Amino acid sequence: MPNICDYEGSNYREEFWEKGNRSYEDLAERVALRRLLPPTGEALMEIGAGFGRLADLYSSYRQVILLDYAMSMLEDAQRFWGKDPRFTFVAANLYHLPFAPGIFQTIVMVRVLHHIQDVPAALTGIRQVLADDGVFVLEHANKRNLKAIIRYLLRKQDWDPFDHDPVEFVPLNYDFHPTWVREKLESAGFAIRDSLAVSHFRHGVLKRHFPPWFLARADGAVQRMGAIWKLTPSIFLRAEPAGAKAGIPTPKAPVPPEELFRCPECGGRVEKADGGLQCVECGHLWPLEGGIYNFR
Ligand SMILES: C[S@@+](CC[C@H](N)C(=O)[O-])C[C@H]1O[C@@H](n2cnc3c(N)ncnc32)[C@H](O)[C@@H]1O
Repeated sequence: MPNICDYEGSNYREEFWEKGNRSYEDLAERVALRRLLPPTGEALMEIGAGFGRLADLYSSYRQVILLDYAMSMLEDAQRFWGKDPRFTFVAANLYHLPFAPGIFQTIVMVRVLHHIQDVPAALTGIRQVLADDGVFVLEHANKRNLKAIIRYLLRKQDWDPFDHDPVEFVPLNYDFHPTWVREKLESAGFAIRDSLAVSHFRHGVLKRHFPPWFLARADGAVQRMGAIWKLTPSIFLRAEPAGAKAGIPTPKAPVPPEELFRCPECGGRVEKADGGLQCVECGHLWPLEGGIYNFR
């Protein structure tokens, strides 16, 4: 089983976003997501949703599933979104997605791939739970970014940004080459339909001199053209199942829990039981804890 970058108990929201001077990155990512996401839809899942930073962008979806490995992240997300009946909170490992095949119209994964040790396994699992007419919006950290190229040429960095293999710059933190990500997506049954280069202006000097909204607007103006060269630290992709148009279309949402979930241990159907959901095949009880389905 691949190792997991565990955020349980971390103060990611406060330390990374609120104190980390990252309003520009947040706004630029929202511009990209708005462009790539189908504006409305049935069931959407965000994988590694954290505290639900981006969840306001899903307001036109009938059902929203926020999945994360860390319970504490989901509890934080609940504080913002817990009163909205369209939201379901799921604690699970993305290598064992506890869902019925083809159940989601849209899947989003932002700032998560860089923690994934076994990308092919993760993408294969995601393809299984995405409808044949669905959309997968994926962000990945780009190893061939301008800063890495300059550092490499000045011999301040030992890894080669042009080499296609992922680089693990600290344990469980990877940067990926765009070509490598495309190959892995294709092997998992996806075709890339659109791509955007994001965070062109992620630089301390620029962030000190220009307001976040200005940099984000400028970033938005060049995201599409920048995707030709892909020299930014972050790449957003819109991928769709390859050649599956004649397949099973997305089910109508909201999908009830018995239809939405499958046992992550054996793939069996589940039914409501005291305290949670029980697998009708292996009998495993998956608890519902404080409004969070726990499949860990
Ligand atoms: C850097 S945070 C990004 C959070 C959110 N997507 C955002 O952009 O604000 C990465 C998230 O991925 C989650 N994560 C990492 N490995 C995971 C796994 N194997 N299964 C599910 N979630 C995972 C972490 O718990 C964490 O909340």
